[in-house]
Amino acid sequence: MGLFGKEEDNANAEHHTESAGGPVLVGAIKLGTANSTITAGDKLIGTRSLVRKIYKSTAYERSTQVPDIIVGSTALEYEGLGELIYIVNKGVVKTKDAYYLVEYLFNHAKKFNKTEPKRMKIFAAAPSIAAENQKDELEELLKEFVEDVKIISEPLGSLIYHNWVTGVCADIGHGTTDFTLIHQKLAVKDEMGEVVADTIPMGGRDIDFAVQQSIKRKYGVEVPLEECMRIKEEYCGPYYENIVLGKEIPSLAENVITEEGIAEMIVIDKDIVASVNVIIDHIARKIVELIGKSPFSIRKHLYGAILLNGGISSIRGLEISIRKRVAELANLDLEQVNVILSQDPLHASILGAKKAAEIVFK
Ligand SMILES: Nc1ncnc2c1ncn2[C@@H]1O[C@H](COP(=O)(O)OP(=O)(O)OP(=O)(O)O)[C@@H](O)[C@H]1O
Ligand SMILES: [Mg+2]
Repeated sequence: MGLFGKEEDNANAEHHTESAGGPVLVGAIKLGTANSTITAGDKLIGTRSLVRKIYKSTAYERSTQVPDIIVGSTALEYEGLGELIYIVNKGVVKTKDAYYLVEYLFNHAKKFNKTEPKRMKIFAAAPSIAAENQKDELEELLKEFVEDVKIISEPLGSLIYHNWVTGVCADIGHGTTDFTLIHQKLAVKDEMGEVVADTIPMGGRDIDFAVQQSIKRKYGVEVPLEECMRIKEEYCGPYYENIVLGKEIPSLAENVITEEGIAEMIVIDKDIVASVNVIIDHIARKIVELIGKSPFSIRKHLYGAILLNGGISSIRGLEISIRKRVAELANLDLEQVNVILSQDPLHASILGAKKAAEIVFK
């Protein structure tokens, strides 16, 4: 069976420990709606969380060079062939198909680690409210590859990476946003003793839909979601801040590819860039709700330390909108609320998970 995809590398610190039977490598893995990443010694290897399955019914089809299973970004290149599967949906890993992607990531990591995955101990970052059976399934899947696995919530990984001891982290990904609250390095609990955390089905994909609708309203053309995702990354990322601060944006003419496959020249205006606003209220409301469930004495500290992580925290100005909305909803002065964008939106959670693994597995 053929397997292939594309990878991106990123520098990071290496860490080995010794245990009986040779060196053990400690690392972390993250499976997300849009991206999945694994640590490989001093590197990070990541790819799109996609699997394409191609069923070949005839001898002729079987004789072609196209593999049966294609994973990662390459899966996008075979439009119309077979079935394209997103391996994570609403924060839940669809285990059977995820196997191919996990296998691909471990195979790549192995090249860099020079250690068999079976000698690895890893932390896997999962949504804050993954149900026990979902965590068990993820653990079971990963145990087929490694010596030991522990599950950590993704936003907790980000808080660890940023060395925060008290605060709220909203990890805004493609399909979901995950919330975790800590105080003095421990998970915050409500008056019933339950951990205060949540996941909502809201993220980058909702902005992509809003971009799509905005273009359709204005130009009457249907632009595929993949193209809307690109527009979001290229234009909302740098220019949303202008909208929030009431500044003009430069005139941005752009060729977009429509559903019909035709290039159409459109102007990326302020309405399209403002599509980011569709997520603001949902995220701010959940932050206020969760802080409201926390012990009264620490709420002030939590409002003062809100961290935004995940790919969407690459959008500059997002912290300004969320801060304003949180202050409004909680009836606080702006000065009492602090919202900060991640120092490494796409990697903080996995790097924090790795840091936790180094402490626990040492
Ligand atoms: N520079 C950027 N500007 C705007 N958006 C970006 C940028 N870089 C990435 N994104 C968006 O971030 C999202 C991916 O983020 P991330 O990798 O954190 O998601 P995920 O973990 O795969 O998803 P989930 O947490 O929902 O499972 C996508 O919507 C992507 O388009
Ligand atoms: Mg994520």
